[in-house]
Formats: sequence, C-alpha cells, structure tokens
Amino acid sequence: MTDTTVGSSKPYRIAVFASGQGSNFQALLDHSREGQLGAEIVLLVCNKPEAPVVERARRAGVDCFLFEKRAYARREDYEAEIAQELERRGVDLIVLAGYMLLLTPVLVDAYQGRMINIHPSLLPSFPGKDAIGQAWEYGVKITGVTVHLVDGGMDTGPVIAQKVVEIEPGDSIESLEEKIHAAERDLYPQVVNWFAVGKVRVDGRRITIE
Ligand code: GAR
Repeated sequence: MTDTTVGSSKPYRIAVFASGQGSNFQALLDHSREGQLGAEIVLLVCNKPEAPVVERARRAGVDCFLFEKRAYARREDYEAEIAQELERRGVDLIVLAGYMLLLTPVLVDAYQGRMINIHPSLLPSFPGKDAIGQAWEYGVKITGVTVHLVDGGMDTGPVIAQKVVEIEPGDSIESLEEKIHAAERDLYPQVVNWFAVGKVRVDGRRITIE
C-alpha cells in the first residue's frame, strides 16, 4: 500500500524567548503536550536566569539558553550565540513571549517572517512597556491582545491575529490583567498552530489564514 501521508516527517520546531513568569510559555507547552500545537518547543531562550519561566522549562525537560546581557559588550554578540543554538536545533519559528530585550538585525533579518510576538494591547494602540497599564490609565472600553510578525520596530510588525477584551464597570487593573492573560493563553497556541500547519500567508502587511 502506498503511503499518502502529506507533509514532512520532521516535527515543526519552535524556540520560545521569555524573560519573566512564563504563563504564555506554559500555555504553549500544555498545548504541545496535548498534541494541539502541532509543534515541539525545542529551546527556551531567557536573559534572566532566575526567572520563573526557567523553572517551568526545567521541569518540562526543555533545553534552555540562559544569558545575562551585561556579560556581553554588544547585543549582536549574544544574538550571534543564540542564532547558532537555533540553527543547531533546526528551529522553524521564534516565538517571543514576554521577551523584554530589543532585537537586532542579527536575529530579525535571519528570521524574517519566522518570528512572532504577543503584545497585551490592540496594536497600534499602546505599544511598548506596560501596555495593560497604559490602556487602563487611558480609560478605553476595549483593549486586547495582538500577535504580530516581528520587524525592526517596536511592536510595529504586520498583525496576524487580535483578540478583544472588554473593560467592564466592575473591572480593576488586576482583573483586566487576568482577562488579558487568559486571552493570550487562548490566542498564542492557536497562532503557533497556524504556522505549524502552514496556514499563514503574508502579503506585505496583509496576513491571511487559509
Ligand atoms: C505577556 O502579557 C506579554 O503579552 C507581554 O509580557 C507578558 C509576559 O507574560 N509582552 C509584552 O509586553 C511585549 N511588549 P508571561 O511571562 O507570563 O508569558
């Protein structure tokens, strides 16, 4: 009988970059283990060796590349080391999940179209740091979560998907944060799966899911 299986036998491989709690890392890991991601997390890259996300990775047996920025003269130097690790593991997609360092062309150019970020607002509103706090202070009625391709700017890459979160009368900044994080845990694994199964088409700034 002929084997008609379509696609490569190599599992889709992702590297997650994170600096903090790792709730998005955990959601990706859980979906991967349940077979819902269509991808394997082969590396965690983290610039804070003490961050809780590192413990999550260790418990799960995910390899970690840990570094401290101050040990390097230039951003390009640690990014060149990261690039080697990614290459060695055959990484298909970089998934930024609360990675709080700016990237240089060393990684941005090498992974153009293959690097995504999640941001806790409806871009282009509230880019940069403390997006949830910015939206709260502004008093908007709706905010949310954006997943976008990474380009050379700060939260400026083409939008892949967005999820709306309403700010309701009883909300506090804490309840809003919880709603945003819940939306992230839904949206990010979904988007990674779209990449893994080859559903994402990029035409300039217009991205469609087939
Ligand atoms: C997430 O809310 C993510 O959207 C945000 O950092 C948090 C990381 O949480 N990223 C940014 O603000 C990027 N500009 P986590 O460590 O629990 O996944």
